Amino acid sequence: MLRRREFIRRAAVAAALLGLPLARAEQLFAQDPPALPPRDLYGTDPDRYWAELRRQWLLAADRINLNCGSVGCTPLPVLRAMIDHLLSAEEFREAPYPWFGYEENTRLRELRDALAAFLHVKRDELAIVRNATEANNVVCNGLDLKPGDEALLTDQEHPGGRCCWEQKAARFGVELRYVTLPKPPASKEQIVELFARAITPRTRILVFSHITTVTGVILPVKEICALARSRGILTHVDGAHAIGQIPLDLYDLGCDFYATSPHKWLMSPKGTGTLYVREELLERLWVNTVTTDWRNYALKAYRFSTFGTSNLSVMVGLKAALDFFHTIGPERIYARLHQLATRVRDRVAAHAQVQVVNASKDEFFGGLVSFEPVPRVAPGATTGGLQRVADECAARNIRIAGGPERIRIATHIFTQPTDLSAFFDALDAGLRA
Ligand SMILES: Cc1ncc(COP(=O)(O)O)c(C=O)c1O
Repeated sequence: MLRRREFIRRAAVAAALLGLPLARAEQLFAQDPPALPPRDLYGTDPDRYWAELRRQWLLAADRINLNCGSVGCTPLPVLRAMIDHLLSAEEFREAPYPWFGYEENTRLRELRDALAAFLHVKRDELAIVRNATEANNVVCNGLDLKPGDEALLTDQEHPGGRCCWEQKAARFGVELRYVTLPKPPASKEQIVELFARAITPRTRILVFSHITTVTGVILPVKEICALARSRGILTHVDGAHAIGQIPLDLYDLGCDFYATSPHKWLMSPKGTGTLYVREELLERLWVNTVTTDWRNYALKAYRFSTFGTSNLSVMVGLKAALDFFHTIGPERIYARLHQLATRVRDRVAAHAQVQVVNASKDEFFGGLVSFEPVPRVAPGATTGGLQRVADECAARNIRIAGGPERIRIATHIFTQPTDLSAFFDALDAGLRA
């Protein structure tokens, strides 16, 4: 009886938080969750396996979401875990405060252990933050650089990774230089060579995305970091898009700092981020948002997670997202989202009026494919180019990223082959028009 009452309460919170009609919220949150498809269905009929799995998301049946890169889609078991914690936290039964942003509690420690294992680093090197932008700021604002010191970025950085450096340049006289990335890249060596040529004796840090927001290209992080290390230069990698999209082993990559936003491809609740700081560098960074413990170096990377009261329930959701990811299987997830993206790449590349700008080889893309019109349109154009394709997508309720200059398509495990067919129809119609 008590269970039933709790389920109803959960449904009421879900209705309020997610803007769902109460009847629908009760259907989804006050009853047993939809069962996961049987695991062996994956072997016998993979398309049916993924079609059945789609019931784990609230995604509207009359909408197609091909932009889970900007903000991700969170499955029901993760939403349930977050809502259940929101409710139980308000009972204040447990000894520690149910918060995040001050001292570590058991839930946060378990989360850090799980994330550290997933990213192949030590727990003490991993801070939990609220998004990649915050992680990027911790590194940029925390590092002492002198006027005239240089940071080398790429021309495809997201504002959440780039603007902190622009501010640092304006405040402290740090110089910024940019590598112009090829669209599409010809080889990993080509990209590494561009970095090598742009490095000067004053370069102190390379700042670049693992997967860029602009085109979704995967950069050769390991090779770039090896180059930087051989020249005594630090590396900060913005991996906002990488966690959950591609397999990650941060030690193998050899970077010094690495930021992520699990609310994109790892499908966690919104407002979750991680920051890896190589152990030897932990004490070189000042804290960004400062409160108690700012110089408690014994905390190791957790020093960067003490920034005032934040939402622990969201972090409980992040742990549930990681559990969900492992339940489905990281290899299966990557294989599926990449297979679908390959389908997009091949279909788009068949049109002579466009050029695929990232996915020239398998190693350059995971679940993102971007293409530009031939000839290109001026940056910032609001008409022409691919606008008709964007219009055809909008008319069919297909969410994409981009406009006249470029379109970016994201595929994930909830993407269905029928979603792609609808997009291909829109593409054909837009390019015919
Ligand atoms: C490379 C990169 N960095 C940072 C961000 C900002 O992410 P968040 O808003 O989660 O901080 C994005 C968002 O798309 C991104 O693509």
